Amino acid sequence: MGDLFSKFDPLIEQRETLLEGAVTDPFNLVMEKVESPTVAICNGKRTILLGTYNYMGMTFDPDVIAAGKQALDDFGSGTTGSRVLNGTYVGHKAVEQALKDFYAMDHAMVFSTGYQANLGVISTMAGKDDYIILDIDSHASIYDGCALGNAQIVPFRHNDVEALDKRLKRLPPEAGKLVVLEGVYSMLGDVAPLKEMVAVAKAAGAMVLVDEAHSMGFIGDRGRGVAEAQGVIDEVDFIIGTFSKSVGTVGGFCVSNHPKFEILRLVCRPYVFTASLPPSVVATAATSIRKLMDSADKRAHLWENSKRLHAGLRQLGFTLGTDEPQSAIIAVIMPDLETGAAMWEALLREGLYVNLARPPATPAGMTLLRCSLCALHSEDQVGEILGMFAAAGRATGCIS
Ligand SMILES: Cc1ncc(COP(=O)(O)O)c(C=O)c1O
Repeated sequence: MGDLFSKFDPLIEQRETLLEGAVTDPFNLVMEKVESPTVAICNGKRTILLGTYNYMGMTFDPDVIAAGKQALDDFGSGTTGSRVLNGTYVGHKAVEQALKDFYAMDHAMVFSTGYQANLGVISTMAGKDDYIILDIDSHASIYDGCALGNAQIVPFRHNDVEALDKRLKRLPPEAGKLVVLEGVYSMLGDVAPLKEMVAVAKAAGAMVLVDEAHSMGFIGDRGRGVAEAQGVIDEVDFIIGTFSKSVGTVGGFCVSNHPKFEILRLVCRPYVFTASLPPSVVATAATSIRKLMDSADKRAHLWENSKRLHAGLRQLGFTLGTDEPQSAIIAVIMPDLETGAAMWEALLREGLYVNLARPPATPAGMTLLRCSLCALHSEDQVGEILGMFAAAGRATGCIS
C-alpha cells in the first residue's frame, strides 16, 4: 500500500534537522497568557509581541470586550447555521452596516474568515472563459480562490505595472477580466502602486479586486487602506478584508458599490455552505470597526513606531525588505533558514516574538523575520525591541 504521507518526507526531514539542538519549535509556540496586545507570557517569560498583525491593538479594548460579553449573554455562543438559513442575526447585519459606513460603500458581505472571502469572491466572480490577472506574490487565499474556480490564471511580476499592462493587452478584449491586487504585501511589507495599476486595469476593461488585509485601520486618512491613500478607492470594484488583523477578532468581508453585488449571497459557496460567525465575534468586530474610524492619533503613533524600528534595525546592520518603511510590517532578511531559525530563537530567549517566514510562503526563496508593529507599542518598547535585536544579532553572528 502506498503511504500517502510519503510526499511530505522532505519537509519532515527539514523540520527535524531544524529542530535538532533547538529548544522551541518556531511553528508551535504556545502563548501561555496574553496580558495586552503587546505582551504575552511564552515559556514562562514576559515576551513582547512583534508578530501578531494586531496593528491597532483592539483585542483588549474595553468597549470591544464589553460588546462581545453582552452578545454572548444575549445571543448565545454560536449561530449553528449558514448566513442564508438560521445564521443571520441582528449582529451580522450591524457589522455589515459598520463596514458600509467605514468604507462609505453600498454593500458589505461578511464571511467567516478573510481566507473564505477571497476564496468565495474570486472563485464566484471569475468563471469559465474569464481571466484572473494576479500579482505573483499574492496571498495563498487568492491562489486558492483561483484554484476553486475555473477561470484562466495569468500571473504577473510583483508590483510591476508594465508587466500587468502587457498581460492585459494580450487577452481577448471582450473577455471578462478580474485584476487581483493587495494593498500591502505581507511578506516584505511593501505597498502596491495601486493608482497606476487600477488605471491600467480599467483601460483594459477589467474589474479590480484589492485585498486590504494589512492596511485596513492604519493606511489612508480614515484607515480605509492603500486604495484610499492613493486616491483610487472609488474605482476599485471589490475590497476584501479581514477582522483578524486591525479589527482584532476573526472574520472576513467584501465591500463593493456594484449594484448587483447582493446576488453573491446566493451563489458564493464559501459564504453559503459554512456556519456564520458567533454573535460575540460580530459584536466585537462592529464595535472595533466603528472605533477605528476615529483613530487618527493611533495611526500617527503607529507610523512613528514603524519609522523608528526601521531606522533602528538598519542602523544595527540588518538587511530589510524595503528601503523605507511602507507599512506596519518590517521584514528582516536572513541569509538562510538555519540562521533565521537561530535568530528567531535567540530573540525569543531575549523576550521578543516575531514571525519566522520561509519558502514557499516567501518570495524568491527568502527566509524572513517578519515584524508587525502595533499602535500600542510604546516608544520604550520599540527601544527594548531594538536592544533585543542587537543582542540576538550579535549572539548568532547576523550582525557584528
Ligand atoms: C493578504 C491576506 N489576505 C487574506 C488573509 C486571510 O485572512 P484571515 O486570517 O481572516 O483568514 C490574510 C491572512 O493572513 C492575508 O495576509
